[in-house]
Amino acid sequence: MDELDLVWVRARFSGLEPSLAFLENAGGSVPVDGVVERARRYLAEDMVQLGAPYPRSERATARVHAGFDAAARLMGATPAELVLGGSTTANLYVLSHALAPRVGPGDEVVVTTLDHESNRGAWIRMAQARGATVREWTIDPATHSLERPGLDAVLSERTRLVCFTHCANVVGSLHDVPALTARIREAGALSVVDGVAFAPHRRVDVRALGADVYVLSLYKVYGPHLGLMYVREALLGALANQNHDFLAGAGAYTLMPGYVSHELAASVPGVVEYLEALDAHHGGDGTLDGAFARIAAHEERLAERLLAYLRAHPRVRLLGSAQADRARRAPTITFTVRGARADAIAREAGSRGVAIRAGHFYAARAMPELGIEDADDGVVRASMVHYNTLEEIDRLIAVLDRVLAA
Ligand SMILES: Cc1ncc(COP(=O)(O)O)c(C=O)c1O
Repeated sequence: MDELDLVWVRARFSGLEPSLAFLENAGGSVPVDGVVERARRYLAEDMVQLGAPYPRSERATARVHAGFDAAARLMGATPAELVLGGSTTANLYVLSHALAPRVGPGDEVVVTTLDHESNRGAWIRMAQARGATVREWTIDPATHSLERPGLDAVLSERTRLVCFTHCANVVGSLHDVPALTARIREAGALSVVDGVAFAPHRRVDVRALGADVYVLSLYKVYGPHLGLMYVREALLGALANQNHDFLAGAGAYTLMPGYVSHELAASVPGVVEYLEALDAHHGGDGTLDGAFARIAAHEERLAERLLAYLRAHPRVRLLGSAQADRARRAPTITFTVRGARADAIAREAGSRGVAIRAGHFYAARAMPELGIEDADDGVVRASMVHYNTLEEIDRLIAVLDRVLAA
């Protein structure tokens, strides 16, 4: 596949600064200009109550609904199956309350030791409140991934729910979601899949993935600070209403107490339009599949440049796969350096115009499992997306050269 036209790509992100190599994208990506402009326009032109019988309200309502339509295209879902909320953490919190009546004493809820706490804490608290047992699907020590034997070891006829991540935000490993959700369904349980660290890098298609619930955070997919949650339609109807009593039976709205920030919802089409334009600009048919195939190819090149450097250095311990293979990992690359604190490395990089970060990244439970003794210092993480350049990776490598020579 041809290389990405990075001049064209980067011209669509006014927030990218040439003086800063921004490699902290797993924390949040820079929004594409079309998103910024739509939010601005909504605030300037449309800021009235929705659903009222006058033209300005009708236009505002249409723009917010267009946000749901765009989000549906991004996920391969229908708008009726979607929740937009303040964040993924907030969406899962609400969902855990809506699912609670389906879980009781003696039931089992599975969480993983690799997940961001967002897809663990809400379920652990819900299970405890309902008298259910929490079981942990543990990280495979050889691959730093979630593997099928680990799932088989915790599934039982009492399992009601399995909550796991599509891509680990601390090590970038990709999991075989269709196979895993099929196994979970066969066991009679529901699956809640965290796609937050996956969605910026690869095409999400909820039908093919087979999850009952799939979540992502739009602010990591070049969009506004919102969480997006798909809930299979048949399941939506069986959930306890979390909105006003008179809204019972209102589908996904029952999971959106207070609804969503209107101006941010109205900005979501900017993400999809950008991705389609990216594919078209490079000679494709303007599809999301095409865009993400191009993104994956470029990301693999970025990952290989950094991994090749890290693999060769005796003081570096890489976490997750040491190979850039786009089928197995996202370009979220994590490591520790013998004799150097993770925090000191991130600070040194920051002072030299390279944005990376250190810590446990809210995957605190994973730290001991990955052999990290000081979870507060944690690991160094460099996380790229498609708008990053090989030159930016070289700037990080130059910083690491200084740190590793010290
Ligand atoms: C894998 C993963 N899941 C969940 C979250 C939480 O997302 P939010 O900030 O939208 O609550 C994050 C945030 O970093 C994440 O990386």
